[in-house]
Amino acid sequence: MQNLKDKVAFVTGGSRGIGAAIVKRLAAEGAKVTFTYVNSKDQADALVSALAQEGLTAVAIQSDNNREGAVSHAIDQAIEHYGKLDILVNSAGVYVGKAFEEHTTGDYDYVMNVNVKSVFEACLAASRKMEHGGRIVTIGSCMADRTAVPQATLYAASKSALSGFTRGLSRDLGPKGITVNLIQPGPVDTDMNPAASEFADFQRGMMSIPQYGRPEHIADAVAFLASPVNGYTTGSVITIDGGTLS
Ligand SMILES: NC(=O)c1ccc[n+]([C@@H]2O[C@H](COP(=O)([O-])OP(=O)(O)OC[C@H]3O[C@@H](n4cnc5c(N)ncnc54)[C@H](OP(=O)(O)O)[C@@H]3O)[C@@H](O)[C@H]2O)c1
Repeated sequence: MQNLKDKVAFVTGGSRGIGAAIVKRLAAEGAKVTFTYVNSKDQADALVSALAQEGLTAVAIQSDNNREGAVSHAIDQAIEHYGKLDILVNSAGVYVGKAFEEHTTGDYDYVMNVNVKSVFEACLAASRKMEHGGRIVTIGSCMADRTAVPQATLYAASKSALSGFTRGLSRDLGPKGITVNLIQPGPVDTDMNPAASEFADFQRGMMSIPQYGRPEHIADAVAFLASPVNGYTTGSVITIDGGTLS
């Protein structure tokens, strides 16, 4: 059954990893999906073609969340094209790992721009046009609550900001019938955190289920939160991390 037939969705950072799995899942549920990418044009184009071969609709737009105004412009373009927006998924995210003393304020700006400020911008653009039944889902990280590794200070700070933001926004948009939720993944096998890296066994060692998640595990939760079936879960932080440090 297609739960998202006739819905229009926008996903940031959909060319690879978790974002790409979300694009595929929402499209398979019947949504018309616009997604953004920055550097991975070939992967974005390949995803659009693969979905088209299945009779599913996706459009890729190059848009850098590190540039002020870019994501709102891309959302406006999608709304102009489809006439509405039902679902916003903020998945794009970056990790800058280095000794704290080596950081610059440029690192701060980059991580906060992509992981936090662009989420604010995207929600602002979306909320001005979304109607009753709208759905906003953001991808945070379990590191917001439990940071077991060094060199993740900025990343953890940025992902912590998203939980307060989600709770606040759910209050602001609840009366309009729009739900706002945050998913906090643990280790998921992507380019950002490969299951075969030298750091992987350490992460598996912290988990109740000592296996990396797959991007589809996160996409499953997004599909539920974005669907009309969910009208009552809002302001929630849902952790999907195999029981990391639980
Ligand atoms: N993998 C994990 O273990 C894990 C765990 C917890 C949370 N997360 C979160 O899950 C989300 C997705 O992570 P992932 O593992 O799938 O990462 P990934 O494999 O590194 O993919 C990142 C995606 O974000 C896009 N992106 C990067 N910088 C961007 C920017 N400035 N503007 C717009 N898009 C940008 C990339 O696009 P291009 O390639 O086109 O540049 C790519 O599509 C992130 O928010 C991440 O923090 C991941």
